[in-house]
Amino acid sequence: MCGIVGYIGFREAYPIVIKGLKRLEYRGYDSAGILLYDGADLKVSKTKGKVADLEEKASTKITTNGTIGMGHTRWATHGVPNDLNSHPHVSNSGDLTIIHNGIIENYAPLKKELINRGYTFSSDTDSEVLINLIEDVQKKDKLKLGKAVQVALNQVVGAYAICVFDKKKPNEIIAARLGSPLAIGVGEGEFFIASDASPFLEYTSNAIYLEDEQMAIVRLHKPLKIRKIKDDSLVDPYIQELQMNLEQIEKGGYDHFMLKEIYEQPSVIKDTYRGRLHVNNGIIQMAGIEDNLEKFLNAERILIIACGTSWHAGLVAEYIIEEFARISVEVEYASEFRYRNPIITNKDVVIAISQSGETADTLAAIKLAKENGAFVFGVCNVVGSSISRETHAGAYTHAGPEIGVASTKAFTTQITVLTMIALRLAKAKGTMSNTEFHTHLQELELIPEKVTETLALSEVIAKEIAAIYKEVPNCLYLGRGYNFPVALEGALKLKEISYIHAEGYPAAEMKHGPIALIDEKMPVVVIAPKQGHYDKVVSNIQEIKSRSGKIIAVVSKGDTQVKALADHFIEIPETLDAFTPLLTTIPLQLLSYHIAVMRGCNVDQPRNLAKSVTVE
Ligand code: F6R
Repeated sequence: MCGIVGYIGFREAYPIVIKGLKRLEYRGYDSAGILLYDGADLKVSKTKGKVADLEEKASTKITTNGTIGMGHTRWATHGVPNDLNSHPHVSNSGDLTIIHNGIIENYAPLKKELINRGYTFSSDTDSEVLINLIEDVQKKDKLKLGKAVQVALNQVVGAYAICVFDKKKPNEIIAARLGSPLAIGVGEGEFFIASDASPFLEYTSNAIYLEDEQMAIVRLHKPLKIRKIKDDSLVDPYIQELQMNLEQIEKGGYDHFMLKEIYEQPSVIKDTYRGRLHVNNGIIQMAGIEDNLEKFLNAERILIIACGTSWHAGLVAEYIIEEFARISVEVEYASEFRYRNPIITNKDVVIAISQSGETADTLAAIKLAKENGAFVFGVCNVVGSSISRETHAGAYTHAGPEIGVASTKAFTTQITVLTMIALRLAKAKGTMSNTEFHTHLQELELIPEKVTETLALSEVIAKEIAAIYKEVPNCLYLGRGYNFPVALEGALKLKEISYIHAEGYPAAEMKHGPIALIDEKMPVVVIAPKQGHYDKVVSNIQEIKSRSGKIIAVVSKGDTQVKALADHFIEIPETLDAFTPLLTTIPLQLLSYHIAVMRGCNVDQPRNLAKSVTVE
């Protein structure tokens, strides 16, 4: 993972790089570093810790002027988080500097060879190997920096987004990517380079997204050049106008990004169906689906690939697509799929789900599916991301930037898109009556209001549930049908931000093992809306009750039966069975959030995690 920022222009680089790194901290936050060039000297400051720690260190250790700068916020892969392993890394001569996001897989043999040639290393990182390899190539073959970077990159195996600076040629930064994202902001007399466009939003809305195996030669007062790393051919830069704005990436008065994003769900669900869901005309229209409808209708099966929370959204979609459109669906972890020699044919439609659009395992799984002839459809949030470009077609979620590491609004907007796909396919296949179809369209349109109603329970959840259970070591989440994946998602949210061990299970599976855990100390969150398998869930609750487990139930408004059994209940508005995940998820997000805050955890940046997992 890691976030990188580079600047070359006429402004002071220090504040641009520091602010940019803060915006990219979601990509990793175990160490940070900065390089500044003031026209004479290279100044490097780096530290274990967050960008704020770097700021403190840099302001006392280095003078911070200079109009060329590069910075890095790290999520450790090779080498523990410490000052030495932090980026930038400087080559043995002291001339070249690199910031790197990704992994150089063959760094060990390269390092061995460089050591044999007299190079020394002060860190355990693969990135320090890469910068010395570039230096070695540059010296050996007397090459210009761009050429040396290119030759070196052709020797490495792995993934990278890099910026390289040579103090002997200080009007230039070389940027390159393979498998890790890189955007270049193009201003008047200045360039910005970053892992995403957020660091340069206030300076320019013109951006170029580098493609895999491309490098950019970014020079002051000269046109930008893009070359293919493999064959050196020139590529015409494609400049896009950015659609993001600054407000979208700031906290807007909330204590945490996660809370802001939880509260944004009514509006982003609406943004996601706006222009696609036409209740009055009784249609759903999504360009990516309309253009490829036959492929979906002729598919022998739909295969959904994703990781983490996106995988949970895929599980919800499995239930919904099979129920509505009667097409067989399988859901796979991308990381398993890519390595298990799966059977894929040109009769398969693959749906890849990813908030970031950069998840390495999902990207690799997409490539594998394509190589085997499948049609691949992406459901991504980040416009222009690698997955959105790698897939044959797709539909964006319109969640806006998700900064909190724990995914919230991405999940509900993914479900919204996938539900619309299921409805569109059902309509085309005639597997749902017109009346049913219309009822579903009408109800989907009401979901944002019902989410708002559910959000109003936040304080009660904090005071009456989170405050009581904030110190428990374990928690169980149970759900059936559409709400089984919600149980998984609720457990994931709790464990990742509060570090409480939590497990999600299909409620009926409880008696095949987890029931052994239940005693008077074990809280069990049971998702029990009135629709679906209500009676079965009531029986499961009885089983917990008779073993003295503590029951926190999510129930439909007006429920009496479960309320009478539960220790605590959270009432959500009624909706159609298939749409309950869009509402039942909300209290579980809030419960995790409040527990994490009460435990003093870093909600937006939980330990060991990163927002965009660009390593496998
Ligand atoms: C959990 C979470 C992760 C991501 C997973 C996939 O809150 O955010 O589990 O869902 O890393 O990421 P994307 O959706 O970007 O592919």
